[in-house]
Amino acid sequence: MNRHSPQHPTQSHLYASLTAYLQDLQESGVDGIPLELMTAAESAITTQPDATHKKGMENTMTVQHAASEIHETLEQIRKNLGACQRCKLGATRKNLVFGVGNPRARLVFVGEGPGADEDAQGEPFVGDAGRMLNRIIAAMEIKREDVYICNVVKCRPPQNRPPESDEVSTCYPFLLRQLNSIRPEAIVALGTSAAQALLQIKVPISKMRGKFHDFHGMPLMPTYHPSYLLRTGGNSDSFWSVWDDMIQVLRLLNLPVPDKSRKK
Ligand code: URA
Repeated sequence: MNRHSPQHPTQSHLYASLTAYLQDLQESGVDGIPLELMTAAESAITTQPDATHKKGMENTMTVQHAASEIHETLEQIRKNLGACQRCKLGATRKNLVFGVGNPRARLVFVGEGPGADEDAQGEPFVGDAGRMLNRIIAAMEIKREDVYICNVVKCRPPQNRPPESDEVSTCYPFLLRQLNSIRPEAIVALGTSAAQALLQIKVPISKMRGKFHDFHGMPLMPTYHPSYLLRTGGNSDSFWSVWDDMIQVLRLLNLPVPDKSRKK
């Protein structure tokens, strides 16, 4: 089940996964590889990973990447973004909201884009929607600092409007690079914008949620956005739909499923 378990890969496996990784990078707009990554690739091909490396990690929220994997770090991606002005949102934002959490998280939540609170603080999901997301994470009996949280766009759309397609497509390569850097075992796409941007399909969230989709080899569960839950009330059907989706995520991660009783 665990993607990070060492496989004692042969050289041809390593070359194949390295080629796929480079193609992903190229798709996401990277046109060169720093020398230190080339050196890491070389040692990955000549070093056998330790078979006991991941033993006993299945029930924790953090994982170590197998020694043979090479990837750019979140810091490198953040540095590459710089004081981004690649789309028109750059002109009106206060802070670029890159993402927060564990760079080795097993679970990543992706939202739509920063609101006023996030723009002011430079951190995703710190306002009302953030408090609702914190409730969901707490209900899963995991810690916010153990997951990674980010958005489809890194800068606040004016008046909290949904991000426009040019803004999404400009920011998307960086999101893809973040997700490829973390390589979580599960991604939760929060709401329509996130699910549609990641899966590149124009299907309503109500039709996408409730089952896993493939995102570059990572299982992705679309679910309702925390703001939608705030609008529909704390004990609504949509709340329980989100909980059903999170149960599937917990099962995939081989984590205990807390018992929640549904008030009628
Ligand atoms: N809504 C989002 O989609 N993202 C945030 O960071 C905050 C609110």
